[in-house]
Amino acid sequence: MERLVIKGGSRLNGAVDINGAKNAAVAILPAAVMASEGKCIIDNIPDIEDVHCLERIIEDLGAEIKVNSNTIEIDSRSLVKTEACTEDVRKMRASYYLIGALLARFKQAKVELPGGCPIGVRPIDQHIKGFEALGAKVVIEHGAAVVKADRLIGANIFFDVVSVGATINVMLAAAMAEGLTTLENVAKEPHVVDVANFLNTMGADIKGAGTDVIKIRGVESLKGCNYSVIPDQIEAGTFMIAAAACGGEVTLNNVIPKHLESISAKLLEAGVEVEEGDDSITVKSSGNLKGVNVKTTPYPGFPTDVQQPMSAMLCVASGRSIITESIWESRYKHLDELKKMGASVKVEGRIAIIEGVEKLTGAVVKATDLRAGAAMVVAGLMADGETEIYNIEHIDRGYPHIENKFKALGAEIYRKVD
Ligand code: EPU
Repeated sequence: MERLVIKGGSRLNGAVDINGAKNAAVAILPAAVMASEGKCIIDNIPDIEDVHCLERIIEDLGAEIKVNSNTIEIDSRSLVKTEACTEDVRKMRASYYLIGALLARFKQAKVELPGGCPIGVRPIDQHIKGFEALGAKVVIEHGAAVVKADRLIGANIFFDVVSVGATINVMLAAAMAEGLTTLENVAKEPHVVDVANFLNTMGADIKGAGTDVIKIRGVESLKGCNYSVIPDQIEAGTFMIAAAACGGEVTLNNVIPKHLESISAKLLEAGVEVEEGDDSITVKSSGNLKGVNVKTTPYPGFPTDVQQPMSAMLCVASGRSIITESIWESRYKHLDELKKMGASVKVEGRIAIIEGVEKLTGAVVKATDLRAGAAMVVAGLMADGETEIYNIEHIDRGYPHIENKFKALGAEIYRKVD
């Protein structure tokens, strides 16, 4: 069984390159199947299991894929299959973007319902509402979404909740609908903007991504293009927090500091120094932290995906920290693991109250989901003694070679297989 072994207590120093954004890449790859002419050559693709899973899914649909380091070439010209019903489709979340992408190009799709991290109920009612508004019929049959339309026609759609997935999925379908689609109350996350930019580079006409309203004028077809994925806001946030928690000075290269503002602001409040460069950010920390309150909200607020590593850090910050998780109702499973390391935490519904302790102590723990795994890595790095983290397949879904990156910063961490 693979696990990460960490001997905690080292300060982190040096520089780390941040990878392309997972949650942008896992939407851009499905979007590439919409190109009926030319090839998509996409750079800055992270080397993570969710990406490999999508490569297999898209190949199975009939696209040709070549991978060269962080660049992927996708030729979807001869793709004709519109059914994605494999184990890979079921195990990851972002496979559902194939519904919007295939519906746009072929006016039909059958895609098995997705898995993803167990962090709360994950309905897709807003995706379905959007597809139906564009004129598609959606039926859930034997665990798959079966979606068909004679024609897709632009519509005004007001989402009931701010959803990254629904915004992107309906934007994909609307990119090839007839006429104008207006999406309101949309997600403004950097990866939503990145997918819109990718589609526009393929020949789509999408305006307003990054604001509350996206306007999409449908086009008849899309073509391949060259594109580079934005840096990963969440991987960057995780390294910033690890540096703050362990103490030391770490520079993150290949980041967009604007995307990290809510995280930088919280670290400053906790007593950490954060310096922004053009495409880098430096975190300097004595390791002595003050407790802060954190509330997760859609972008530009504090990202839910960084809440778990942040709460690990706050376990050793002086005083009380209150976390309010407003996106996912059960994203606190990592706190039970942190308690095994000596954390003092109480959860009441969506609120977690953390009383800072002087130190955490190494223990055998597990990654209950992707970002919970990142939280355990942060905890292990700052704890006294040895921590072993099991179920690290969750971590590998979203963080490329996490142990090598931390090792290069001076951490004692390695992967053990037996
Ligand atoms: N929601 C609905 N109906 C829908 C869709 C969403 O009620 O049809 C609700 C959800 O239950 C949730 C809220 O809306 O309470 C936000 O969900 P959203 O759709 O934004 O989440 P997602 O698209 O399923 C993506 C990321 C998550 C990240 C969230 C929020 C991907 C593949 N996943 O999920 O990332 O937490 O947005 O920012 O992009 C992660 O990377 O660890 C991760 C879980």
